[in-house]
Amino acid sequence: MPSHLQAQRAENDLLQARLINLSEAERAAIASDLHDEMGPLLFAVRAAVQQAEAAATQVTGPGLAQLNEALDAIARHAAEVQRGTRDAINDLRPMLAGDASLSELLEELVASLSEIAPEGRITLSADKGVSTSHLGELSIYRFVRESVLNALRHGQADHIRVSLKLLRGSGAIVTRVADNGIGPGLNASPSMGQIGIRDRARALGGTYLPPWRDEGWTLTELRMPLE
Ligand SMILES: Nc1ncnc2c1ncn2[C@@H]1O[C@H](COP(=O)(O)OP(=O)(O)OP(=O)(O)O)[C@@H](O)[C@H]1O
Ligand SMILES: [Mg+2]
Repeated sequence: MPSHLQAQRAENDLLQARLINLSEAERAAIASDLHDEMGPLLFAVRAAVQQAEAAATQVTGPGLAQLNEALDAIARHAAEVQRGTRDAINDLRPMLAGDASLSELLEELVASLSEIAPEGRITLSADKGVSTSHLGELSIYRFVRESVLNALRHGQADHIRVSLKLLRGSGAIVTRVADNGIGPGLNASPSMGQIGIRDRARALGGTYLPPWRDEGWTLTELRMPLE
């Protein structure tokens, strides 16, 4: 590649990295606002429902059944809103967990993905003690989440293997997701999921390999530099 193009590309990558930093900071702020605003309100709604349920035990006469039904519905909807808010916070800022290591975060992620795919088996084999920059780890985390969801949604896979390895010679972290599903069709083209993974990888000096087929498995890989 001619040197002026190389310089241009390096500058683009730098800009992209800054943009990603900025957008992660914004997402983290939204997540924490949502958490701080909605948490106490939802708690108040649930407490009020409990008080109303207690008061309803003193009520008699026509309309009591309807009152109890309505109270049940409010409690159910409040629980749904709480679950939805928690999911949104987790999506905006998946790693509020704090000091957990990358392999621990992936363990938690795989456990929560296993809950939404009870009939599927998701396994993780992760080298302990692998770590990189916060943004690097966040992009690995997002890659795994997106790739496992793709395997479930598009591949209808019932066995998914996630691996995280440190390649000593090259100083790279290799994360792979393999699934036994039907694989991408001929017309499959990257959408927001894969484009986001690819842009984050490039901005951080990594490489993303979109799904390919090998002996009945669909594989996808993210290689990230150590720092
Ligand atoms: N593991 C997989 N098995 C089968 N097809 C896949 C797999 N991963 C990706 N694909 C195909 O690649 C396409 C693009 O994936 P991508 O994640 O970019 O978009 P999407 O999942 O369709 O939408 P979203 O923007 O919500 O992620 C998918 O629509 C699907 O056809
Ligand atoms: Mg997707």
